[in-house]
Parts: sequence; C-alpha cells; structure tokens
Amino acid sequence: MENPAITNHEIHPLIAQRWSPRAFDSKLVEPEKLAQLFEAARWASSCFNDQPWAFIVATKDDTVNYQKMLDCLVPFNASWAQVAPVLGLVIAQKNFKHNDKPNAWGEYDAGQAAATLVLQATALDLVAHQMGGFDADKAIATFNIPETAKPIAAIAIGYAGEPSNLPAELQERETAPRSRNPLSSIVFTGEWGNSATFI
Ligand SMILES: Cc1cc2nc3c(=O)[nH]c(=O)nc-3n(C[C@H](O)[C@H](O)[C@H](O)COP(=O)(O)O)c2cc1C
Repeated sequence: MENPAITNHEIHPLIAQRWSPRAFDSKLVEPEKLAQLFEAARWASSCFNDQPWAFIVATKDDTVNYQKMLDCLVPFNASWAQVAPVLGLVIAQKNFKHNDKPNAWGEYDAGQAAATLVLQATALDLVAHQMGGFDADKAIATFNIPETAKPIAAIAIGYAGEPSNLPAELQERETAPRSRNPLSSIVFTGEWGNSATFI
C-alpha cells in the first residue's frame, strides 16, 4: 500500500511517498540494498563532519540477533515490527571526536542520517518505520553499547505488506489519511508566531 502526502505545494515525489507503515512483507531485503541504505546515511551532513551516528542492525535470517533486537521494542511496536525482515537501532555518539566535548548536535545529526536512510529506502521501493518505543537500557545492555553513545531510535525496514494482515485496530490507523500542521504555524518571519508571508 502507498499513502502519499497530500501536499499544498509541489514537493519531490520521493518525499511525498515516504511514510511509516506498520504492514511489512516478510521478504528479506537484498544485502546490496541494505548496504545502499547505510551508504546513504553515511553521506548525511553533520556538525564538524563528526558523523556521530552508528547503527546496529539485525536481519531476520540472523535469528538470534533479530530476536534480541525485537525484545528491545515495546510490546506495541514488537506486535507489528516482528514481520519486518530488518530491525535496527539508530545511535548517536555523545561527544565530538576532535575534542571529546559534548556534541549538542549529535542527536540532530543522527536523526539526519536516519532521515537520509529512510529516503534512500523509499527510492529502493522499501519502507521504513522509525520508533521511539524501545527500551534503551535493554538495548545498551544487550548490544554492549558504550557509555559514550546513546541509542536514539529503533527502525524497522522491509518491503511494504498488506494492511489486511494487521490486527483490525492497526488496519484503521494504517489507512487513515496522513496529516500535518499548517505551514503558517511553523514558518515564521520577524518574530516567533508571525507566519512568513510566502506561505
Ligand atoms: C523518532 C520517531 C519515533 C517514532 N516512534 C514510533 C513508535 O514508537 N511507534 C510507532 O508506531 N511509530 C513511531 N513513529 C512513527 C510516527 O508515528 C510517524 O512518523 C508519524 O505519525 C508521521 O507519519 P509518517 O511517517 O507516515 O509521515 C516514530 C517516528 C519517529 C520519527
């Protein structure tokens, strides 16, 4: 299923097509495509070009690590993400490499890398669904994530599946129209709250 953004202004089709479905096909993702996703993430911009992101990835054919990853998700997310053939964690390094001082933009940059990965996934006819609903402490312990790094989000990646395979309540959410705040409430000029005139 596709669920493109209904936009007020024309945007690139790739951006309009990206969405966060919960219905996945169980088909495995080709290793070359997986590599392309992380290659795209690698080329995100970052403060001081520090590239503070890292990923831990588990594919379904790696049953032990996949189960470990699944066990880090909150039960709601695990209920649908368990069909996805790829699960991962997006991680941010806490400190800059050049001076070991706290990187105030580390999580921002990790988010940019994740967003880039997700767009590359869309370009490859894959879907990706990011999740804040995971147990970070469990992930740290399970995957030996060092004190210097922070797991920010989990992500499910795969091919789109049939919404009819989801539980009834999730089917409804899957097919509901996608919505966004109006531009006038987020783009200001002059001072906070003063909508920009070009929108
Ligand atoms: C950082 C982040 C955390 C999210 N956490 C969850 C989550 O735990 N469970 C879930 O089902 N969706 C989660 N989502 C998906 C959002 O609900 C979804 O992106 C939002 O509703 C907009 O829909 P769209 O991505 O299809 O445009 C998360 C998305 C992001 C970016």
